[in-house]
Amino acid sequence: MLTRRSFSKALAAAPFIARAQQSSSAPRARIKIDTERVIGDIDPKIYGNFIEHLGRCIDDGIFKENSPLSDSNGFRRDILDAARKLNVTLIRWPGGNFSSNYHWRDGIGPRDRRPPRLEMAWGTVESNRFGTHEFMQYAEMLGAEPYICVNLGTGTWTEAQQWVEYVNGKEDTEVTRLRRQNGRRDPWKVTYWGLGNEMDGGWQMGHRDGEEYSKFALEAAKLMKWTDPSIKLIAAGSSNFAPGADWIGWNRTVMNYLKNHADYLSLHMYVGNPTNNFPEFMASSLELQDRIKISEGVINAAVSSLTPRRKVHIAWDEYNVWYRARGEGREKGRNILEEHYNLEDALVVATFLNSSVNNAHIIKIANMAQLVNVIAPIFSNDKGIYLQTIYYPLQLFANNTRGKALQLYVDSPKYRSRQFDEVPYLDSSASLDNGSLVINVVNRHGDQAVETDFELEDKQFAGPVQVAEVNGPDIKSANDFTSSPVKAVTRSVAAESKRLRYSFPPHSYTMLKTKLA
Ligand code: AHR
Repeated sequence: MLTRRSFSKALAAAPFIARAQQSSSAPRARIKIDTERVIGDIDPKIYGNFIEHLGRCIDDGIFKENSPLSDSNGFRRDILDAARKLNVTLIRWPGGNFSSNYHWRDGIGPRDRRPPRLEMAWGTVESNRFGTHEFMQYAEMLGAEPYICVNLGTGTWTEAQQWVEYVNGKEDTEVTRLRRQNGRRDPWKVTYWGLGNEMDGGWQMGHRDGEEYSKFALEAAKLMKWTDPSIKLIAAGSSNFAPGADWIGWNRTVMNYLKNHADYLSLHMYVGNPTNNFPEFMASSLELQDRIKISEGVINAAVSSLTPRRKVHIAWDEYNVWYRARGEGREKGRNILEEHYNLEDALVVATFLNSSVNNAHIIKIANMAQLVNVIAPIFSNDKGIYLQTIYYPLQLFANNTRGKALQLYVDSPKYRSRQFDEVPYLDSSASLDNGSLVINVVNRHGDQAVETDFELEDKQFAGPVQVAEVNGPDIKSANDFTSSPVKAVTRSVAAESKRLRYSFPPHSYTMLKTKLA
C-alpha cells in the first residue's frame, strides 16, 4: 500500500490533480450514505485472479526456471512480490481454453520425465513442467485459495473425478498413493472446482451444445462430489455473447440440469474500445450489470422449484479489457494476448470492480484474467517487471473494499451512449468494515470534474478522509518499463461531521476511506 509520505511526493509530481480540484463550473452530484442499507457481504473471493498455460503467463511469466530472478523452484520472486500486493484471494488454473485438453496426469511426477504435448488452444508445446504440485505450491506462496478448472472438453468423467481424489483424497487408494509417491502426503483440500471452461463457444476444444454440456457436466459433478462432498462446483455459464448466440438460453439449460449440484454459475466478459470512443467504452459496465441481473433471474427461476432452496451464486471468473491483442494471428504462439493498458482501461476495470461490490449479494467469485503478461496487471521481461495501469484499481479495491457492501443513493449528471439512454458520469460503490467506510468513485467524464456533496444519513465522519486517486495526464497514458504516469496518488482531506464536498477530476478513479462514528 501507499504510505502518506509516498502520496505527498506523488501528488507534487501530479499537478493535474490539484488543478481539477479548483474547477468552479464543474457538473455537480450528490451521494447519500446510509450504513443500514446493506446489499450483502463482500466475498473476499471477488478479488481473485487467474493463471493459464497461455503465452507468457505461466511459462516465462510466473515460472521461469534457471532465471537469476527466480527461486529454486523456478518461481519469479519479483512477480510473486507484486502479485502478493494485489492481495489475490483466489487463483484459478490451468485455464481457460487450455484446460479443455489438459490431462492432469501429464503434469505430475519428476519434472524431467513429464511428456511435452502439442497445445492446440494457443498453438505452442506444453512442457508440463508446471503441474498440480507446482500450482498448489504457488497458491500457497501467494496466500490465495486454489481454484482448479477440470477438462470437460476432451477429458472424461473418471479423469475429473480422479483429479479430485488425487488432490483431496484421504483414503488409501492407487490414486492417493501416487500423490504420496510424488511427495505430498496430506490432501490439499481444494474447495473450488470448475466444471469446464467456456463450453458455449465454438472455439473451445470439445465444445458441446447446452444440453450435451449440461448432461456431461452433471455426471462429472456427481462423481466429483461423491469423491469429496465438501467441494464447491462452478458450472460453465455464458461466455459467448456474439450476435445470435443464445447466452440466456445456455444459462437456463445449465441451471436446469445443475441446480442441485452447482454452487456457482460462471460468467465471462471482456470489453474493448476498438472504435476509440471513450464515453461508449466507459459505459461497458452497464452491459455487465444487465448480464448480472439477467443471470441472477435465471438462477432464481431454476432454484425456485427446490425445497429447501439452494443458493447458487455467480462466479464472474474471467473479466478484463481485451481487444488490441486479439483476433486472427494474435492468438497463437508465445508472445500473445499481451495488452498494454492505458488509463481508460484502468477506469473501466474500476467500474467492473464497482459492479462486483454493488452485486455483492450474488457475485461471490470474480477473477481478473490474467495475472502476468497475458491481459494482465503485471508485465515482465527477462530483467524485471512494471505495473500496468489496471494494477492500481485492483490493488486499491482488494486491499480496502471489504466487509458489507452499501447501497448508495447517487444523483449524478448523465450522458447518452449508443446503447443506454442514461449513463451516470459517476460510477460508485461503497463498503463498511468495522467502522471503516470506503467509497469508490469513477468519473467517466473525459474533461470535466464532477463536484460531489456526500451526506451521511446515520453516522458522522470521525477523522480525516484518506484519498487515493488513479489518474494520469491523458486517457491514453500508459506505463512501461521506463515510466509510470498512471498510478495511485494518495493524500488526505478534512470532512465536516456529516458532510464532505469532493471534486472528482476528469477521467479518474478515486477511493475515499475514512472512519465513521
Ligand atoms: O483469458 C484468455 C482466454 O479468454 C481464456 O483462455 C478463455 O477462457 C477466454 O476466452
